[in-house]
Amino acid sequence: MNKYNIAVIGVGAVGIEMLRVLRQRNFPLGELRVFARTTREIEVDAEKYSVKEISAEGFNGIDIALFAGTEGEKGASLQWAPMAVAKGAVVIDNGADFRMDPNVPLVVPEVNARDIRKHKGIIANPNCSTIQMLVALWPVYKKAGIKRIILTTLQASSGAGRGAVEQLWHEVETIVAGHKSLGAGQSPVTCDLRPEARIMPQQLGFNVFPQIGSFSECDYTNEEWKLVKETHKIMHDDKIKISATTVRVPVRTGHSESVYIETRKLIEPQKVRNILSRAPGIVVIDDPKHNLYPMPKDAEGKDETFVGRIRKDPFVKNGLWLWVVADNLRKGAATNAVQIAECVISG
Ligand SMILES: NC(=O)c1ccc[n+]([C@@H]2O[C@H](COP(=O)([O-])OP(=O)(O)OC[C@H]3O[C@@H](n4cnc5c(N)ncnc54)[C@H](OP(=O)(O)O)[C@@H]3O)[C@@H](O)[C@H]2O)c1
Repeated sequence: MNKYNIAVIGVGAVGIEMLRVLRQRNFPLGELRVFARTTREIEVDAEKYSVKEISAEGFNGIDIALFAGTEGEKGASLQWAPMAVAKGAVVIDNGADFRMDPNVPLVVPEVNARDIRKHKGIIANPNCSTIQMLVALWPVYKKAGIKRIILTTLQASSGAGRGAVEQLWHEVETIVAGHKSLGAGQSPVTCDLRPEARIMPQQLGFNVFPQIGSFSECDYTNEEWKLVKETHKIMHDDKIKISATTVRVPVRTGHSESVYIETRKLIEPQKVRNILSRAPGIVVIDDPKHNLYPMPKDAEGKDETFVGRIRKDPFVKNGLWLWVVADNLRKGAATNAVQIAECVISG
């Protein structure tokens, strides 16, 4: 069996999960090199890794480079992905820097694996909330068509990186300590943080807030626009009307989505359950009589997308609701990227 030299760039929330997923899926690894901004030793699941400061020479002989560094001007991808490609690697990028580039396939393997063949060196992983929504909706789209999607996401702190998880822990610990010393009802549920320690725009401990990313066109955030634009690109259908509200919730890992769709053809909830139960990468948990539905705490560490609460809109003929949950660091990032790498090597 052929072996492939892999580079993982970034050892934050997603990068660590990449290292795990590569091992767990028995990826045919030749050499594995790990890069970040600084050199150090790290340990993941009792396995030691030498992290090296990123450099051009580091990409010599690399077959696939999995980028999980910060996005934007100061991030890893804009600076280093073209260099990795020039050295002969295929880049699979987790950030938003290349997602809407017409020369870069944007791929959820369960939906549009075929687009991988069109790559010119860089393949982009979609945003975490787009990935899980499309895994769940694609089988329905193929059977009944979808003309409209309205969704609210409930996104975990780890979606904003390791610093955001630390912020959540700090806030929860501070508020719980206040509760213990002052007693119920007396203690504040707000807490101050030094500005440099605040990664998210608001307090998340004991709170939720409807802002992920920055506000942009028509008062939607850029995270909300990602759901629109990425869905159109991946599904090759820009006629679907999509409107989203993205909300940060005090969950460590695992995004939930309340998704409303209007299908083109009538499809009954039981038919949707049957189709989704047979679809790759989906687990249906939908037994309201026994209070069974997907929850992020149960999805953490898993690769599947979990779907439940499938039900009709009593007032709109082709309207359906679904509740969709997945681990944002696994299927929403690392697993999807490694699946793309598997498609690349299998041709
Ligand atoms: N978190 C999610 O759920 C999620 C889901 C989908 C996609 N993504 C995307 O995945 C990427 C990584 O996210 P994350 O949550 O893992 O971020 P993170 O926890 O903040 O970690 C970022 C990592 O990138 C490294 N890095 C940053 N700038 C670099 C540079 N110029 N050169 C080399 N390494 C650099 C950092 O190195 P040091 O450790 O040395 O500081 C760190 O290891 C982002 O593009 C994000 O948008 C995240």
